[in-house]
Amino acid sequence: MIGHPLSITGLHKTYPGNAHPVFDGFSIEVEAGSLCAIVGVSGVGKTTLLNCVAGLDHWESGIIAVGGEPVPDGAEARALYRRRRVGLAFQQPHLLPEFTVRENLRMPLLIDGEVTPEAEVWIGQLLSTVGLGDLGERLPGQLSGGEAARVGLVRALVRKPTLWLLDEPTGNLDPATAEEVFGFLLGLHAELRPTTLLVTHNPGLAERCMRTVRLGCV
Ligand SMILES: Nc1ncnc2c1ncn2[C@@H]1O[C@H](COP(=O)(O)OP(=O)(O)OP(=O)(O)O)[C@@H](O)[C@H]1O
Ligand SMILES: [Mg+2]
Repeated sequence: MIGHPLSITGLHKTYPGNAHPVFDGFSIEVEAGSLCAIVGVSGVGKTTLLNCVAGLDHWESGIIAVGGEPVPDGAEARALYRRRRVGLAFQQPHLLPEFTVRENLRMPLLIDGEVTPEAEVWIGQLLSTVGLGDLGERLPGQLSGGEAARVGLVRALVRKPTLWLLDEPTGNLDPATAEEVFGFLLGLHAELRPTTLLVTHNPGLAERCMRTVRLGCV
């Protein structure tokens, strides 16, 4: 598993009703398999950028291409794009509370069809990689914040996406736990090499990524 390159060219994005654009001709090239930190003050457009790349939001003009293929228009094509290409994780892991860790990790695959024995092995590997090999049968309410964050990170990788889009995945954690979860994030990235955008307010974490893109600065 290795990511595709991400290319954003001349992105223009203004939310309906807002006077000012969030992006006014933003461009960036991210190499395949890179780990790129996205930083910048609150409100500058970090989440908006991830939402556009994920095909969850619309923009007026500009091209976002993954592996040379533009993110498609149209609800169905976008849904397929997201299923095939994109893994998202957020500040809150949003695990389904009445399902076990393993069941939560099967969810993205159930949407596509059945969960094969190979996929069960893959889920087990992902859990082991983040030190949760023994916690697959726990309910989310029986996990610490750091453990839940790790489940959120791997759930975004279950479908083997080429893009791993992470919006402050450690933002909710105390510094020691954030550091621990970031270590697992680095390990997953080194092993699987998805092309990764990591939004973070933590300069110490950003400087350990391969590259930092600061939004809002010319
Ligand atoms: N749905 C929306 N409708 C209108 N304006 C929005 C919407 N979502 C975001 N905005 C505005 O767009 C700008 C960028 O917001 P965004 O959430 O991308 O910022 P951010 O960099 O992720 O901030 P933070 O660090 O606080 O998460 C802000 O000015 C925000 O108010
Ligand atoms: Mg945000």
